[in-house]
Amino acid sequence: WPVSVESSVDSTNAEIFRRLDAGGRAPFVLLAERQTAGRGRRGRVWASPFAENLYCSVVLRVDGGMSQVEALSLTVGLAVAKALHACGVKGAQLKWPNDVLVDGRKISGILLELAGDPADVCHVVIGIGINVNMAVDAPAVIDQPWTSVRQCLGLVLDRNVLAAELLQQLQSCLSIHWQRGFAGMREEWEALHAWRGRSVALTAGNNATLGVVLGVDERGAIRLSVDGVERSFSGGELSLR
Ligand code: BTN
Repeated sequence: WPVSVESSVDSTNAEIFRRLDAGGRAPFVLLAERQTAGRGRRGRVWASPFAENLYCSVVLRVDGGMSQVEALSLTVGLAVAKALHACGVKGAQLKWPNDVLVDGRKISGILLELAGDPADVCHVVIGIGINVNMAVDAPAVIDQPWTSVRQCLGLVLDRNVLAAELLQQLQSCLSIHWQRGFAGMREEWEALHAWRGRSVALTAGNNATLGVVLGVDERGAIRLSVDGVERSFSGGELSLR
């Protein structure tokens, strides 16, 4: 994958959409030193101070449309966790669908966005933010418990080392995903599952479903025990209760 690095963009995902509109050819990777309008899931802001963290987007062409993309975010989360492990962060775990946590605190977030016709040929933009060396007292916008590689390791990590590891893990996890679907990654994902056995609320729109996490299925849906009955959900936001 060709890689370019910018010193400042609004959002690496937004910049990739502009480059596609201008005729850019996938696949390619964009890294930025900072983002002035880093996007999180559900309209949240992603804290993106200069030169402290990793802000990375990868764009791929997906010929099979949406069916190929559904469980992709779980595979990407696994690749991030594996890259962190390889850099010495031993306790990285996965919160469905794609947050990476250490001791229950968020170290990385992933935002997948689609461009084009979801039923046909489209592009998927995979945006990955990893808290690497962010100062403990830095961003006021973060509204949830977070940690960083530096807090976990007690040292400043060269972001290039993590970026190289991340792209390598992404390539190897995605190649399995394209061959076998998420089924090919499920066991490894489950081994890092942060909330198996925990009581949770799954919020989707105005509905909240209470249950106990059983695991994830081969399509990447979360399996909950709800009043003793197993149910699977492909979307929504989990919180502990
Ligand atoms: C989340 O809310 O957990 C997702 C956060 C995703 C942040 C990354 S940083 C690189 C890419 N560009 C963005 O604007 N967002 C993603």
